[in-house]
Amino acid sequence: MTKKINIAIDGPAAAGKSTVAKKVAEALHYTYIDTGAMYRAATYLALEHGVDLEDAHAILEWLKTEPITLSYTEKGQHVFIGNKDVTELIRTDDVTNHVSIVATHAIVREEMVKIQRDMIKQSGVVMDGRDIGTHVIPNAEVKIFMMASVEERAQRRYKENVNKGFEANLEVIKEDIRTRDKIDQERKASPLVKAHDAIEMDTTGLSIDDVTEEILAIVSKKVM
Ligand code: CDP
Ligand code: CDP
Repeated sequence: MTKKINIAIDGPAAAGKSTVAKKVAEALHYTYIDTGAMYRAATYLALEHGVDLEDAHAILEWLKTEPITLSYTEKGQHVFIGNKDVTELIRTDDVTNHVSIVATHAIVREEMVKIQRDMIKQSGVVMDGRDIGTHVIPNAEVKIFMMASVEERAQRRYKENVNKGFEANLEVIKEDIRTRDKIDQERKASPLVKAHDAIEMDTTGLSIDDVTEEILAIVSKKVM
């Protein structure tokens, strides 16, 4: 049997992390863990209860009262707050526009990382986020830092929204991505930065299949 490893995929918004991570996990029969969904759920929880998003202790209090859990079915990852499935609810613009603020808080991050580390006790995980290779799984056998130009990333998100039938404005999306990247890169707690041993992958102009194949080739060398 081939050895199972852990794969960390980090990078800025709309670089293609989750789409590619899902495909890599499918091909390898690994579990795909979307850590961004947990920060989104924490944001949803705080917004729902009218908590001041700068108040890390108040957010943490709610996280202890109504814990976030993840479960996995054939359809993929489901996110729960208490017993409520919030998988779809955490994708609204309201959550997207506030999530990076919530993710700046060290004590909120610690709570999320505890849950994430519990899930990697067995290998065979593809986890994506911003601090996976640097902090959550520093010993991951494969680390990818995925990027693409901000123009291309905004185009991708724009197309995604149009295909879903949502209203979309390319300039607004570009600005949102820039703002979120800046907050993620400049925060003190586990900022978005390439791990020293991560492979940098510029996916500008590359298709989802191209990037997936490239990662699978890197993995196959590691598990041989
Ligand atoms: O919209 P997109 O898929 O790019 O983002 P996401 O992966 O859902 O993550 C949403 C936000 O959560 C990011 O912009 C970060 O502020 C935060 N995040 C983080 O700080 N650390 C992680 N490991 C994952 C996400
Ligand atoms: O997870 P992250 O925010 O990094 O990005 P994503 O949600 O996986 O990808 C954002 C959008 O770009 C999705 O609609 C993907 O289908 C698309 N995409 C693409 O067109 N080409 C790629 N090489 C990767 C993603």
